[in-house]
Amino acid sequence: MNCDFSIGETDKRIYGSFVEHIGRCVYGGIYDPTCPEADNLGFRKDVISMTKELGVPIVRYPGGNFVSGYNWEDGIGPKEKRPKRSELAWFATETNEIGTDEFAEWCRRADTQAMMAVNLGTRGPDAARNLVEYCNRHSGSYWSDLRGKNGYKNPHDIKLWCLGNEMDGPWQIGHKKAEEYGRVALEAGKLMKWVDPSIELVACGSSSMKMQTFGQWEATVLEEAYDVCDYISLHIYFDNIEDNLPNFLAKSVEMDSFIETVVSTCDYIKGKNRKNKTINLSFDEWNIWYHAAAANEAYMRKRTWDIAPAFNEDIYNFEDALLFGSMILSLLRHADRVKIACLAQLVNVIAPIMTINGGGSYKQSIYYPFLHASKYGRGKVLRTLTQCGKYDSKDYTDVPILDTIAVENEENSELTIFAVNKDLEEDVFTRFSLQGYEGYEVFEHIVMQNNDGKAVNSIERPNVILPISMPLSDNGRLETVLPKLSWNVLRFRRKSTN
Ligand code: AHR
Repeated sequence: MNCDFSIGETDKRIYGSFVEHIGRCVYGGIYDPTCPEADNLGFRKDVISMTKELGVPIVRYPGGNFVSGYNWEDGIGPKEKRPKRSELAWFATETNEIGTDEFAEWCRRADTQAMMAVNLGTRGPDAARNLVEYCNRHSGSYWSDLRGKNGYKNPHDIKLWCLGNEMDGPWQIGHKKAEEYGRVALEAGKLMKWVDPSIELVACGSSSMKMQTFGQWEATVLEEAYDVCDYISLHIYFDNIEDNLPNFLAKSVEMDSFIETVVSTCDYIKGKNRKNKTINLSFDEWNIWYHAAAANEAYMRKRTWDIAPAFNEDIYNFEDALLFGSMILSLLRHADRVKIACLAQLVNVIAPIMTINGGGSYKQSIYYPFLHASKYGRGKVLRTLTQCGKYDSKDYTDVPILDTIAVENEENSELTIFAVNKDLEEDVFTRFSLQGYEGYEVFEHIVMQNNDGKAVNSIERPNVILPISMPLSDNGRLETVLPKLSWNVLRFRRKSTN
């Protein structure tokens, strides 16, 4: 690698996450007044402290599919007056105990910022502009004064807003055609920015690159709503249902191609319509999701309308953490255009943090690659040229065995190389050529490796999967062994002269 081959600066918002009213994410996740870890408002302090440790700068809320049927007014004011609703995205009962104000307060306590989504499924521009007024206007209007009466004198000052969620999907409450959505996104966005011109807006892209309408959807939405939006969204979830590890680990190449296709579409519309503004990408849902899929479908079929049912609680194994690490590298590799990303989700539902109702929590395998990237992956992202073997799998060809990226943190003069070794059999001996970083040496090599790919953490055994710092070799410090099937963080700094 070379210090001049920079892709771009990381936007810290790529280390965002997501809290939806789904399963036990809100109730039992961030909020559980019955547990010993609860603070004076019922927020779980253990979850807050892990969120802080992960360094999550933004958290998307309140959905997801949930937002497309949500009346935000149900979730404000005295709790005893809030209605219970049949929630149609996940067939649960929503108590509305937690709403906009409580979530904004949770964000303050967790040192993060809300990324708020508005309902463009059953609602529209009017409800959206009122919510912006409620959250962001200081006072002197109906909605801002109501916030004051509800105990929140100071505005929540939410800067980032999603214009609906996955509006291309037939499962979405109020699903729309691209033209219909583009029109309503434009009008809602226009009013929202009239209320507060300082906000930024994310338009819905495709809910996955497998959608029939992928590509055309983005182009049409941007034809309609280009002027009002700043970002377009991407969502991706990978699975290993077929239990084919080489194929599973190769899937990050699909994420690269998804990003590159959306970038091309944005720039095509920009060029075609002679626009000056560039639309950047918000990868506001990404993760691995399959372990709990069957149980989820069974719950949805039963229609029992439970409150905060325990579903979609994927328990991630070690193999999942490897692909997960590669997915982060894909985000970093596109730092020039991916400015926002949200790990879906933060707690209990497809999440790095797991809690037990009534007390206790633990970290899943995927927690650690996220932690490392968020801690050491901020700064100038550098292209790496990796000479390594390649492999073919069921759906992919020429997949590099080593997935790597480098990030220079200029503030503390550190360089970090992240690497995933996807080789099932062999450790890979690696030599680093750091052009422009003469005199640098490795001072820490963090590794996650496990002989049992299916190993998981649990409340009883929370440290089965845990990263370790490897002993460093003495000679040269610019070569190392990347163990077979491993996630690696190599931290370099200038050799001390003492
Ligand atoms: O993150 C879970 C769900 O996945 C979200 O509600 C939806 O947007 C996506 O399909």
